[in-house]
Order: sequence, then structure tokens, then C-alpha cells
Amino acid sequence: MKILAFESSCDETAVAVVEDGRKILSDAIASQADLHALYGGVVPEIASRKHVEAIAALTEQALAQAGCTRADIDAVAVTYAPGLIGAVLVGVSFAKSVAYALGVPLIPVHHIRGHIAANYLAFPELEPPFLALAISGGNTLIVDVRDYTDLKILGSTRDDAAGECFDKAARVLGLPYPGGAPMDKLAQGSKGGVYQLPHAHVDGAELDMSFSGLKTAVVNLAHHAQQVGEELNRAALARDFAQAVSDELVPRVMLAAERTGHKIIAAAGGVAANSVIRADLERECARRGLKLYLPPLRLCGDNGAMIGAQGYYEFLAGHTASMELNAYATRDISE
Ligand code: KG4
Repeated sequence: MKILAFESSCDETAVAVVEDGRKILSDAIASQADLHALYGGVVPEIASRKHVEAIAALTEQALAQAGCTRADIDAVAVTYAPGLIGAVLVGVSFAKSVAYALGVPLIPVHHIRGHIAANYLAFPELEPPFLALAISGGNTLIVDVRDYTDLKILGSTRDDAAGECFDKAARVLGLPYPGGAPMDKLAQGSKGGVYQLPHAHVDGAELDMSFSGLKTAVVNLAHHAQQVGEELNRAALARDFAQAVSDELVPRVMLAAERTGHKIIAAAGGVAANSVIRADLERECARRGLKLYLPPLRLCGDNGAMIGAQGYYEFLAGHTASMELNAYATRDISE
């Protein structure tokens, strides 16, 4: 079954063709990151407009790369939540019109379910049940993936997402948006251990996380250094920051594995590209005899193929939508 999949929840317009949920036939992406870098973050209205401009040509590109004609497409999948509402709406409206024109089913896909499904594309042997750590620019979740379409949140951030925290910290270090990857590169020049950064703990909710205190601590540190004319060790701060984020995430995933008895862990989302977090996950999983899946970097960030992968399993579960489908800025992953 060939699914034409659309993703437009933030600043990447992405269209892919995926076969049977596991094989990428094409994966076309038009990133707007350079444009938003001018403003230090995503400007929602500009994102929506750019999606409108890019999506039709990108669809033709994805079909051509896959060696498909429109007649070869069996269904259309689309991110319908969560994300910037105007941006998600562009994908949903376009996908609806394509599904209608082709006379094929329309499959709504939750963006974070898609991120987790990126692992199905990279690892053919991976099947639920497993535990997922989904860390992106807008979400930070520990998820019990009981089945392909039966997911339960075990822990989540109480405030900022891990990626948002990387982006804000990068900004005060003078790095371009999105700051996660440049922070990661900068951190590789230091072993860290220079800056004391706070570690949060949510009373009575051991699997929940918090990143806003860490973000504020880095902002204050940078401003203080500027005010007293002190030179910051930027590489050490980037390294210590990544370690603090990882320390918030990795022990909680291990605790969740202990509590649920899951022996398989899969990482997902843009922040799963982080080298410190990947190394810590690898070390801790090896120590406990857990099987770890870390998707390749190109499948960590937003892409259309992950929506096609999850879309296949949503279709098998009978989760299709009518032309009444709407876009949602927020939506629980378990719905
Ligand atoms: O999954 P994604 O592409 O988009 C969302 O669904 O949000 O994630 C984007 C986030 C950004 O905050 C970006 O700075 C972060 O992922 N990111 C990283 C790295 N690469 C991307 N964060 C830390 N280390 C990285 N290497």
C-alpha cells in the first residue's frame, strides 16, 4: 500500500511516499529554518504562507522521486495535530483536496506518533510494545507504545519542551535558530564540568520533567557574565547544558522501563539527534541490558515519511477521516 504523506506542523513542509509503513519511496522536505532564523524563532504567519507556496511543487517532487503517478497512490496521510494551527491547516486542507481528487482514504496522523514511527522506517524488526522517548521542539514525552495506535503518556514536561530549551539557550550563546544542532557542535569542543546548572524534580510525579528553570539559569548566567564583563566558556556551557537536559531525560526513561518492564526503548524527535543524550541512552541501556533504537539523524527531525509510516498503521486500525477533518494546535497522543 502506497501512502502519500504530508507534514506541515512547524517550519518544514514535507511530502513523502511510503510503502506499507516501512519503506521510504521518497521524502521531499522544504525547510524554512533560514527564513525564521532572521527572527530568532518561527513566525507562525510566515510559516503558514511558506507552506502554501511550497506544498504543491513538493508533492510533484515526492511523486516523481518515488517513480509514482497519482494513480499509484492508495491513501493520503496528514499531520492533523499538534502544531502551529495555521501551519497544520495548510497540510490538512491540501491533503483533503488530494484525497478527494484521487478518491482515496484520508488518514489523520498525530505528529508525535509520527516521530515515534520514524523508528519503523529505520528498524524493520521493531514492533510494539516498547517505550519511547519523544523529544522535539514542542514536546517532551515518555510514552508507553502498547501497540501501533495504542499509546499512553507516562511522563511529560511540566513547562518548556527540551528542544525549546536548547533553542533559547543557543540564542543567549549567540547561535543561530534552530539552536539545538549548533549547540551540540559547540559542546563537542569541551568536556564540561565548569558550570553548575539546576536539576528539576517534580514532587509526586517522578516521570515528569521541567526545563524552564534550566533555561532561566543559562539566560541569567549569560546576562550576568555580560554585565560584569566576564568571558563565558561557551563550549563548556553548551556541554554542561546538554548534560543537564540529558540528566533530566535519561534517568526518567530508565525508571519508566523499570516500572513498565519494557526491554525496548526507542528515541524520537529532533532532540534525539543530540550526541550527549544519545551517548547517555546508549550507556544506560547497555548497563541494564535494554535494547535501544536511535533513529538516524535525518529521521529525527520533522519529515513526511514518518507520517506515512504511522499513517499505514492508523489505516490498518480503521482510523480514517471524512472531509470534515480539522486541524488542532494541541491533541493528546493517546486520542
Ligand atoms: O522534531 P523537530 O524537528 O520539530 C518538532 O517537531 O518540534 O525538533 C526540532 C528541535 C529544535 O528545537 C532543534 O533545536 C532541536 O530539535 N534539535 C536538537 C539537535 N538537532 C535538532 N537539539 C539538541 N541537539 C541536536 N543535535
